[in-house]
Amino acid sequence: MSPTRRLLGALALGALAAAPAAAQQYPTRPISIVVPFAAGGPTDTVSRLVAEVMGRDLGQNVVVENVGGAGGTLGANRVAQARPDGYTLLLHHIGMATTPALYRRLPYDPVNGFEPIGLITEVPMTLIARPDFPANTLAEAVAVMRQRRDQLNYANAGIGAASHLCGLLLMSRIEAAMTTVPFRGTGPAMQEILGGRVDLMCDQTTNTTEQIRARAVKVFAVTTRERVSALPDVPTAAEAGLQGLEVTIWHGLYAPRGTPAPVIQRLSQALQAALRDQRLITRFNELGTAPVAQDQATPAAHRAFWLAEIEKWRPLIQAAGQYAD
Ligand code: MLT
Repeated sequence: MSPTRRLLGALALGALAAAPAAAQQYPTRPISIVVPFAAGGPTDTVSRLVAEVMGRDLGQNVVVENVGGAGGTLGANRVAQARPDGYTLLLHHIGMATTPALYRRLPYDPVNGFEPIGLITEVPMTLIARPDFPANTLAEAVAVMRQRRDQLNYANAGIGAASHLCGLLLMSRIEAAMTTVPFRGTGPAMQEILGGRVDLMCDQTTNTTEQIRARAVKVFAVTTRERVSALPDVPTAAEAGLQGLEVTIWHGLYAPRGTPAPVIQRLSQALQAALRDQRLITRFNELGTAPVAQDQATPAAHRAFWLAEIEKWRPLIQAAGQYAD
């Protein structure tokens, strides 16, 4: 942590220690949640649902700010550099665990730059295609991908994004590399799939379920071991004949390092309250996901989970020689 940020954190902590009422009064103004991907995508959807309910619990507006680009690192950097006072937060996904290995030169510390507040969801992914893609099953789609790999393109949200990880896994399983087209998030990428200008994408059910149900895109598989209840007719990749295409994407909430502990605790309480909210649970279920158990939405549990995920991904990324910079 830079001396300036350490000083800011110490000042904020000192102020709270000197006046415990300040922690009790927190928050006294709106809170911003930075989403490191474009509006209209899966991280944005989760964030807006959580922000609305947390805002009610905290008695302040919680507003979502989209800072997309560079696989989520631009938005993460914004939060890592923010004043650690509880008014600027980050809602990010599994990229928090892959970035430390994928990026060797970042303007922020991707691990020590943040305080975890809690885990939120685990979201299945789906392999989808433009509505007129010339295949109707995963086996047919794999045959097309192998035969026409040079002509096909695959959308993702940049290196380290969930869509990037799923695409890497897919291409290694079918031994066919397609051209990847990066977007600031899979919200805008979905528009290109819908318009038939991009061929394929692997994306979270929170962004694809409604388009799949409306038959606006083709779907070939879900990337979970079991079928997803919101999409009961969609086979798992294994059922459809492709082993090893298993990816689930978690999301968590973070504050800049140095944010006072009472503020982190208050935010974690508000997050847990949001995850108990029946309307939020119903909406998550409609989108193919669910909130995590309450004991996972705590700072300590999320820190342990997040650090274990970093250690899980590091050797895989290093072995694959995958670096973003
Ligand atoms: C998004 O919100 O756009 C996504 O989470 C992107 C991704 O990681 O694929």
